[in-house]
Amino acid sequence: MCGIMGYIGVSNAVPVIIDGLSRLEYRGYDSAGIAMYKDGNLKIIKKKGRLTEMVDALGEFPVTDLGIGHTRWATHGVPSDANAHPHADCSGRIALVHNGIIENYAALRKELMLEGHDFLSETDTEVLAHLIEKYYQGSLEEAVRKALPCIKGSFAIAVISADEPDRIIAAKKDSPLIVGLGEGENFLASDIPAILGRTSKVYILEDQEFVVLKRDSLTITDFAGKPVAKEIFEVTWDPIAAEKGGYEHFMLKEIHEQPTALRETLRGNIKNNMIDLSDLGIDDIFVQVEKIYIVACGTAYHAGLVGRNVLEKLARISVETDIASEFRYRDILWNPHSVMIVISQSGETADTLAVLREAKRNGIKVLAVTNVVGSSVAREADRVIYTHAGPEIAVASTKAYSTQLLVMYLLGLHLARVRGTCSQQELVELAEEITHIDELVEQVLTEEDRIKKLAEKYQGVQDIFFLGRGLDYAVAMEGALKLKEISYVHAEAYAAGELKHGPLALIDEGVPVLALITQDNLVEKTMSNIKEVKARGAVVVAICKENFQEACQECDEQILLPNVNPILAPMVSVVPLQIFSYYMAIFRGADVDKPRNLAKSVTVE
Ligand code: AGP
Repeated sequence: MCGIMGYIGVSNAVPVIIDGLSRLEYRGYDSAGIAMYKDGNLKIIKKKGRLTEMVDALGEFPVTDLGIGHTRWATHGVPSDANAHPHADCSGRIALVHNGIIENYAALRKELMLEGHDFLSETDTEVLAHLIEKYYQGSLEEAVRKALPCIKGSFAIAVISADEPDRIIAAKKDSPLIVGLGEGENFLASDIPAILGRTSKVYILEDQEFVVLKRDSLTITDFAGKPVAKEIFEVTWDPIAAEKGGYEHFMLKEIHEQPTALRETLRGNIKNNMIDLSDLGIDDIFVQVEKIYIVACGTAYHAGLVGRNVLEKLARISVETDIASEFRYRDILWNPHSVMIVISQSGETADTLAVLREAKRNGIKVLAVTNVVGSSVAREADRVIYTHAGPEIAVASTKAYSTQLLVMYLLGLHLARVRGTCSQQELVELAEEITHIDELVEQVLTEEDRIKKLAEKYQGVQDIFFLGRGLDYAVAMEGALKLKEISYVHAEAYAAGELKHGPLALIDEGVPVLALITQDNLVEKTMSNIKEVKARGAVVVAICKENFQEACQECDEQILLPNVNPILAPMVSVVPLQIFSYYMAIFRGADVDKPRNLAKSVTVE
């Protein structure tokens, strides 16, 4: 998730582009760059760090009527000046910016290097600049049209050439891109905030659309060149609302971004209808593995709890999960044939980092699962698997959690295939279900209004309990944390079978209990625990699969989930809990995106 911007027109392109990028920094902010047409050539300035670093390096703004710009959220290649966009071809006369992931970049890079192309960065994007150069015979439009079919993945691109300074070429597939329409000027951007205040007339591009943008005209076709009719979208949002994509808070926006985050994190990890992480270079550390430690904090720890059950079940490896602030002070009897997995959205959480270092001090290989390329955890781990959730602005983690869960499944299925602990049929079926998990999440997101009403009903309570067994218990833990951290309600999650050993005493008349019921082999057991709390006057909201509707009819309310495979259920069942917590906070007047006493990344000991 990066921010791209393009301008051609009567004004000086440089301030227009920089202003646009500053409004897109919520999409990525680890490096930035600009390419502009100047005196017959292209001038490229790019810097690691926030946009201001690049602006400082630019110094006095050159004057030009054509330029493209980029603010980055690294996926391939750590944040650095060389990996920042724009990327150019060998001649330096073609430059492009890109948002998305080119899955087959490694193979293309090898091919192009054999053909004599020199690469200056570690990025996936740079292959596209060289691919366009390969096909360039005087028409940038034609060269881009020829290059696109060669790439697999997601992309929104803007390309300029010093030899055709009257146009910008752009194309879109699976990454957002809009065209802003002006008088004697036109704009390109990843999202509406970038052009707000400059124009209110935009075209929202669909997948497979291709644009030739000039100062006083533009053509939109499909990739093959067939014209596409477009309707103008009139923008009425204010800048803040626009950054939130029309949502009231970043948390709600990020909840709705989960299907995209899951698709981007899955991208490139399915081969021959099975999950295959071979390209990530992690196999060597798992060769003789007998034990896995999964250690993290907060929401990431809850993803680890799901990971434990999944890895044990699929890959048949013994797994221990712990919270980092406890694990680091235990006297661990390290098993030399073990691997440490640390999970961290920010990649900067101090306790998690301390555990990583302790494991390495004891000769244990560390795999990091993180959302930030170049973060401390990513730099110090032996191997890294990135979640591609994009920047997570709200303190309460949602989309990062879902993608962390997905990585646990990908790792479980990859190791199961390598170790032969699942049948080919199981591997193919689960891979098939995972490719559609984003659609199931989209389905649950349509229940938002119903869940909002539920929150409205319970907004005044002081205590809420979350119940579940197995994977449902792990998700109940996350549900309780979400509610605690943003709505300030005292929320506790219990393993349903544990109630009678004490917590049942807390259940009183009218106390709400949210019960997760998605595990086929645990429905009856969980229902018997629900009967226990009902008998003491609790009101029970079941978050259950459609085919358990009848089994759960004793519950007071039901939020129905699609009939997802039980082992994959956490990626779907967490969504109603996220939405419920969000609206509880709204109705209780809490500051959803910046809850009191909390920070997005806890880098202090
Ligand atoms: C989750 O909503 C919280 N923001 C918090 O518990 C968070 O998960 C924890 O601090 C770990 O952060 P990390 O994933 O960046 O390491």
